[in-house]
Amino acid sequence: MKQVPLQHFLNTQDWTRAELDAVLALAAQYKAQPLGPRALEGKSIALVFFNSSLRTRTSFEIGAFQLGGHAVVLQPGKDAWPIEFDLGTVMDGEAEEHIAEVARVLSRYVDLIGVRAFPKFVDWSTDREDRVLKGFAKYSSVPVINMETITHPCQELAHILALQEHFGTRDLRGKKYVLTWTYHPKPLNTAVANSALTIATRMGMDVTLLCPTPEYVLDERYMGWAEQNVAESGGSLQVSHDIESAYRGADVVYAKSWGALPYFGNWAPEKPIRDAHKHFIVDEAKMALTNDGVFSHCLPLRRNVKATDAVMDSPRCIAIDEAENRLHVQKAVMASLIGQRR
Ligand code: CP
Repeated sequence: MKQVPLQHFLNTQDWTRAELDAVLALAAQYKAQPLGPRALEGKSIALVFFNSSLRTRTSFEIGAFQLGGHAVVLQPGKDAWPIEFDLGTVMDGEAEEHIAEVARVLSRYVDLIGVRAFPKFVDWSTDREDRVLKGFAKYSSVPVINMETITHPCQELAHILALQEHFGTRDLRGKKYVLTWTYHPKPLNTAVANSALTIATRMGMDVTLLCPTPEYVLDERYMGWAEQNVAESGGSLQVSHDIESAYRGADVVYAKSWGALPYFGNWAPEKPIRDAHKHFIVDEAKMALTNDGVFSHCLPLRRNVKATDAVMDSPRCIAIDEAENRLHVQKAVMASLIGQRR
């Protein structure tokens, strides 16, 4: 196994396409042989969760175990001290210690730190969650993995591996990919929407961002990444507010709810827009417009709000494959960052 000489996994944009391809290939090997080389023998990792999780926590813990390593889970404000960050940011209650000590102390105990700090209400003016991740990266002397902040790079890799498996090829260029906004009765973070746009364009697909109004177009930093990716990888990027034309001929439909940028943290003006667009739900009629396309979602998903039972229970739904792949890709990322040289 080759060790990729990288320090952190904060975003896929930080890694070269060759590095991402190597990790995806290693993940496929782990999937074929889950109890293969114990690349983390004698290694420990700390998983710091500021938010709830089913998939991320389980897959990282089990992944570390399968690689021969050991995982410690910490929840600041619950079973670990609340943490203060630079610029006065406090996570989960009264701060008892600063990120500088937290990251440095953990670095003395473990070989890798995972951080989950996704926003319930994104405040782009403070960009708190991105600063949480960057704070760990700044003060840690061991690699840091983004377990979801305002992006979700581990989900990106799991998604791409699922698409590669479904289409039977590592080359996804030429696939028509629709990232569709879906209704949700409260504001949610944009992490997976930002990530899906980023990785779909990185893989050279023909990407349509489908959303109700121009106010729902994603933040300019991720639109910028997507445009940069199209320039480098080929493919295309367009924004559409027309459901039928966006779905027509699609090979992939990926759904997520995200907030309208001007209204983040200000629910009153956003709610009427959402309520007027419940028809964005992913249903059989829309999927029938696709090129026998597949549907996926990062999960968790509210059935019959974002996607119907019929879509979720259809063989065209690969969300469970994507969720499984979290285990395999994260093992590959961990092995690449801290694995034993062989
Ligand atoms: N998709 C995802 O990250 O799931 P969890 O929130 O359950 O970890």
